[in-house]
Amino acid sequence: MHTAAITGTGVFTPSETITNDELVAAFNAYAGAQNAANADQIAAGTVEPMPLSSADFIFAASGIERRYVLNKSGILDPARMYPKLDARPDDTPSAMAEIGVHAAKQALDMAGLNATDIDCILCAASNHERAYPAIAVEIQDLLGARGFAYDMNVACSSATFGIQSAADMIRAGSIRSALVINPEICSAHLEWRDRDCHFIFGDVATATLLQRAEDATTGHFVVRSTKLATQFSNNIRNNNGFLRRTHDQQDDRRDMQFMQNGRKVFKEVLPLVSKHIADHMAAEDINADDLKRLWLHQANKSMNDYIGKRVLGRDPQPGEQPNILQDYANTSSAGSIIAFAQHSDDLASGDIGLICSFGAGYSVGSVIVERA
Ligand code: COA
Repeated sequence: MHTAAITGTGVFTPSETITNDELVAAFNAYAGAQNAANADQIAAGTVEPMPLSSADFIFAASGIERRYVLNKSGILDPARMYPKLDARPDDTPSAMAEIGVHAAKQALDMAGLNATDIDCILCAASNHERAYPAIAVEIQDLLGARGFAYDMNVACSSATFGIQSAADMIRAGSIRSALVINPEICSAHLEWRDRDCHFIFGDVATATLLQRAEDATTGHFVVRSTKLATQFSNNIRNNNGFLRRTHDQQDDRRDMQFMQNGRKVFKEVLPLVSKHIADHMAAEDINADDLKRLWLHQANKSMNDYIGKRVLGRDPQPGEQPNILQDYANTSSAGSIIAFAQHSDDLASGDIGLICSFGAGYSVGSVIVERA
């Protein structure tokens, strides 16, 4: 049995941002135009007016201040309200592969490796822009990596589930190195015309490089243990699959994009995650005092505050449980990896931390790491 280690991380951040004020201005212009167009039906009481959004609500409910996106102009055009992300020709790199490669190269540089050193690539993300060939195989080709590659989808937990898959293969000896890549183009599956969720997501790509610990040549984190769990729920759902084109007027079906019952998710996922982490720590004989850092899934600040308090048994100190959601919004599976990549350099040898994701499925994944 070998020991797996995280030897590199990468974060590709798009160049365009949308602030809450910009987002709300576009949404309210869209809602105002809809209400003007439906003025007669609204006056007759046959159509409900669209309520307006508010930047204050968004910040208070979620802690989000802005989000990065691949295309801002399409989202903020009140006559369009979705990003300009057109299908590319088949002989051109796909959008997911392109941003995944950017993140992967950063992780390779950090570990001091070349793509030819990589045995396995997993593209683990919430939404894939095509069914096949796997985006991961395209990334393997673009990077020039050897071995094999495949796609995974465990929604917001895709990254941690990918890390366990890669770590297990390294432990078993079937591979020596793997890149787990999370290109999360969330702007494409968000309904920007829905006031209850239009503020939730942003775009990003992350990469986590895992190797046999004995092969590491730079600073790294040993993967002490991983733990995954799932429990079926319809409270976060996206029905967009191969049935999409088999019905008339499918394009207008709201369930073909991200849907959630946010209140229920909030209430049901918090106890699930708190217990999952507590059980994982107990199984590894790790106490709250032993834990130097928590890198949590980045969906909602109140949720993270609650989980941090439950896990540590007290209010987390500044920096103990870093959030990045104020800048990136919810980036699905990439969120906890951005937090880990941007807030782990200062840990000392022997320090222990825990990466945890949670989301649709429901799914929850935790990874306990120790600075070497
Ligand atoms: N602007 C202004 N008001 C808004 C609004 C907006 N953009 N969106 C909703 N509201 C209103 C609602 O209509 C509601 O009004 P009412 O009380 O008069 O009915 C009120 O604000 C509260 O709405 P609600 O949806 O219940 O808000 P919330 O406090 O539950 O926060 C979330 C919403 C989505 C931020 C929160 O539920 C959440 O984060 N849940 C977990 C999400 C999660 O982790 N998902 C995982 C996805 S991968």
